[in-house]
Amino acid sequence: MQNDVLDLIAKRHCKRAFLNKPVPRHLLEAVLRAAANAPSSQNNQPWRVAVLSGKPRDELSAKLIRAFEAGEPPQADYLNRPQQMDALLAARTQEYGKRVLAFKGILREDQEARRRHRRENFLFFGAPVEMIFHLPANAAQGTFLDLGFFMQNVMIGLSACGLGSCPQYSVASYASTVRDHLCLGEDAMVIAGMAVGYIDLVAPINRFVPPRADLEEYVAWFDQ
Ligand SMILES: Cc1cc2nc3c(=O)[nH]c(=O)nc-3n(C[C@H](O)[C@H](O)[C@H](O)COP(=O)(O)O)c2cc1C
Repeated sequence: MQNDVLDLIAKRHCKRAFLNKPVPRHLLEAVLRAAANAPSSQNNQPWRVAVLSGKPRDELSAKLIRAFEAGEPPQADYLNRPQQMDALLAARTQEYGKRVLAFKGILREDQEARRRHRRENFLFFGAPVEMIFHLPANAAQGTFLDLGFFMQNVMIGLSACGLGSCPQYSVASYASTVRDHLCLGEDAMVIAGMAVGYIDLVAPINRFVPPRADLEEYVAWFDQ
């Protein structure tokens, strides 16, 4: 079945190399305005997003790099997955880790290369724009769901404008550094960063697409 929207959704994958080319603000505004049509519980629209480019972007990157290099223990405001994962989900995350390292030609035992790989997060993969998504600190589980709809709309909207993105828990894992940089109070919870920019089409990493489970693995039909 040929459908432009389904194609756009299916073809969105994380981009981790970007062109050094500014993204016009009007494009970002158009995407963020459209994204706010996401559903939310009783239309509470809890999402907040800081859009950093130029000096504020560079300074946040420098602070995160400093924290990372100093070996500061990451301290996120929330868990991005259960501490005890189901075996199937745990296997998928392990498989993802193996695949991404293999794709980049990094040996599992090469700790220095793996560190450089993680460090790229804090350079925002060279993206000229870094978005920081945050929520009120008293967010309930459903509030995260609301933000998830919004963030997916943002990523699909960016794709529709020819832009690439990568959501980043890694950035949120230095929550207090991010909070300080954005002058947010303790009443804000840092949820995720997102690297945004024009896609470097020749960078091999941008061809990395982790596989998905077959439909039968995640859908049950009840129709008779
Ligand atoms: C909430 C969230 C946080 C993520 N954090 C990171 C991150 O810190 N660094 C990164 O490289 N990718 C991050 N990702 C991207 C996932 O690894 C990616 O979505 C997943 O492997 C599937 O790949 P695809 O989106 O390219 O299809 C994150 C994704 C989500 C949804």
